Amino acid sequence: MKQTKYWTVKEIDREGQQAINQAANLLKQQEVIAFPTETVYGLGADATSSQAVSNIFAAKGRPSDNPLIVHLASSEQIGQYVTTITPIAKKLIDAFMPGPLTIILASNGKIAANVTAGLDTIGIRIPDHPIARALLKEANLPIAAPSANTSGKPSPTSAVHVYNDLNGKIAGIIDGGPTGVGLESTVVDCTTEVPVVLRPGGVTQEQLEEVTGTLVLDHSIKKEDQPKAPGMKYNHYEPEVPLYLVDGDAAFIQSQIDRFEIEGKKVGVMVSEELVAHVTASNMKIIGSQADLTTVAVHLYDTLRAFNKTDVDIILAEVYPKIGLGEAIMNRLEKAASQLILQ
Ligand code: TXA
Ligand code: MG
Repeated sequence: MKQTKYWTVKEIDREGQQAINQAANLLKQQEVIAFPTETVYGLGADATSSQAVSNIFAAKGRPSDNPLIVHLASSEQIGQYVTTITPIAKKLIDAFMPGPLTIILASNGKIAANVTAGLDTIGIRIPDHPIARALLKEANLPIAAPSANTSGKPSPTSAVHVYNDLNGKIAGIIDGGPTGVGLESTVVDCTTEVPVVLRPGGVTQEQLEEVTGTLVLDHSIKKEDQPKAPGMKYNHYEPEVPLYLVDGDAAFIQSQIDRFEIEGKKVGVMVSEELVAHVTASNMKIIGSQADLTTVAVHLYDTLRAFNKTDVDIILAEVYPKIGLGEAIMNRLEKAASQLILQ
């Protein structure tokens, strides 16, 4: 077991900066540090060191064919790691970076080979979180970072989630409070003429299209053929009991709750504010508002994790329209779910 340092950083004052300095020094020594970003917590290490990067894969139990995103302090640094910044990438950088967007470009090979899992492309992101930015600046390194969860579990949106998964396996955790967006970045492949969304996320398709005009959604997001983002083929975000998505009105959802309860099952329901008064089950958790999907995104992973601490046998979840953030929310819910029940 490793001794995992734990820093609570409320702001980048003198004390906060001291914590950042300690964490940055550990990064320079090939250690792995978990830190908050505006999307989810990341598990960072020096992207130029294959030893440091292999420590990330080991701590997470992540398959080595799944590449990591490289995090940089500012968009001016992108040119150091890619062969060319395509015109479409330039537009996306100007519009959304720093922010919840990852762009895929052709790598110039300066990053350790295990970061990109042998691909000749590289995913780059400039996080928009004061702690992430201070850490990147202080370490003065490109930082490879996947989400800071054990592989297969929901991504961490608070430091407690990271602690539960990784305490004793990494050098440190910076607790910067709950993350803002709650879902991972949108991954856009900019190596093709028309950019392709490989993973829906914090920047919506509508926002991207305003900048790029046309845009293609990778077929695998709709569960068809082989995904281009290697990570999309793995089982993700899995809660410990089966999750069923229920597409229907309150009466239909109640009929499904009753059906499982008659079988003797304890039913947990992930429910919106709008529906909570209209259904009854042994354990209900409000996830957010149908009218404001940003609230659903923020609470999604925490709610999935919270059900693991209960004695429910099955979780039922409401579905959301695949518009705006609903696209990313439904992408994650469909990956977590074992069944879809239609009205
Ligand atoms: O919001 C986020 O993106 C968070 C925070 C920590 O930055 N990170 C994150 O990383 O979600 P991870 O490793 O959990 O997911 C990265 C996704 C995976 O699906 C991976 O396959 C894909 O991005 N990816 C990374 N590099 C790629 C590349 N060169 N080509 C295609 N897909 C790539
Ligand atoms: Mg992940």
